[in-house]
Amino acid sequence: MPQPLTARRSAPISGRVKVPGDKSISHRALILAGLATGRTRIEGLLEADDVMATARAMEALGATVSRSGAAFEVLGQGVGGLTAPDGVLDFGNSGTASRLMLGVLAGYPMRVAMTGDASLCRRPMSRVLAPLSEMGLTVEGDKDTLPFTVEGTADLLPIVYELPVPSAQVKSAVLLAGLHAPGRTTVIEPLPTRDHTERMLRFFGAEIDVKTRDDGGRAVTVGGDAELTGAHVIVPGDPSSAAFLVAAALICPGSDLVIENVLLNPTRTGFFETLREMGADIEILGEHDEAGEPVGDLHVRSSKLKGMRVPPERAPSMIDEYPILAVLAAFAQGETRMEGSAELKVKESDRLAATAAGLAACGVEARIEGDDLIVSGRGAVPGGGVVETHMDHRIAMAFLTLGLGSEAPVTVDDIGMIATSFPDFVPLMRGLGAQLP
Ligand code: S3P
Repeated sequence: MPQPLTARRSAPISGRVKVPGDKSISHRALILAGLATGRTRIEGLLEADDVMATARAMEALGATVSRSGAAFEVLGQGVGGLTAPDGVLDFGNSGTASRLMLGVLAGYPMRVAMTGDASLCRRPMSRVLAPLSEMGLTVEGDKDTLPFTVEGTADLLPIVYELPVPSAQVKSAVLLAGLHAPGRTTVIEPLPTRDHTERMLRFFGAEIDVKTRDDGGRAVTVGGDAELTGAHVIVPGDPSSAAFLVAAALICPGSDLVIENVLLNPTRTGFFETLREMGADIEILGEHDEAGEPVGDLHVRSSKLKGMRVPPERAPSMIDEYPILAVLAAFAQGETRMEGSAELKVKESDRLAATAAGLAACGVEARIEGDDLIVSGRGAVPGGGVVETHMDHRIAMAFLTLGLGSEAPVTVDDIGMIATSFPDFVPLMRGLGAQLP
């Protein structure tokens, strides 16, 4: 049953909070822990549906995942040590879980059936299946969307693969497969994408070499026949979840908010950089490194924003933040042009279309020109609409946030999917002053 919710214009969004653990790092921690020998302790793991899909998959393949106080403990089976699951692996709504696990499964000569929810079964898998097939994975029936059955091989070929689309999921799938191949596997990325897999592989003892070109592109090489050793992982707060809180504080006058312990990896901070260029008052406090990743606190005060051109090369560092950036652009003065947003069409929903439609329902002028999303900001937003979320957690959170600052209330048709990434979003926002009755 869909669960609609209405957001109303709110008092200042103020206080000091922590957001839940980073989703990308949480998936990778569970996967590498399951492939390592010995025990891994994971602190701050995101306990949301997407990550639990990865946990269940690793358990179905023979790893043991258990809670230990506030942390999780994983007993790994070693690279090559996983065993065939009894049933179908169901990845729910999670593109990351399903694509990264395809990279893992490529190294095992066993048949594995995989599926997901209606949104995931529409998303393209050919982007990961293409390089993994080159390495030796086969897909029954040549399908390129879930559900399907795959069979890996103990004789994977190491490859050199240049990413045709900037995708950390594809890069990660190939690197994870490369752990099982003999020799060295290299992924070349023309635009840098989030590098948590490389960082964490190194942290677990894999041989990783990263060469950065003058134009920012990178070649990442992983050594094959790898051995990983259990580690102590600390998962920082998710900047993609923090983005909604930052946005609410910016648009609700008088707000003063500190978000503690947020991941500040430069491959993830494009949104904060863009907001500062738009005039947002965002300070970073106490930046330091923790378990191989940079983290710090964000101090945000409500601000008057101005529209800007967001260049296409920035997209990978803020790919999940476009819906909430488009919402902020509606509150800004002037036009914001988000260029090169093609990848948004293949997320949990077609986010380009869903964002433009949601804005239109709230009285905001927005249009799509090719792969660009253009929003005309008038400094204030009428609101008053009902927004369709299309099974997309980030569309739901972006438009609830819009309703906290708009003149009339905004209803989103279903908040159920928020549980995939940020289960406590609504109570946490209420605690900060958000009107989400
Ligand atoms: C992710 C990579 C991004 C992002 C997704 C998580 C990851 O997808 O949109 O939410 O954890 O690797 P692409 O790499 O496909 O752009």
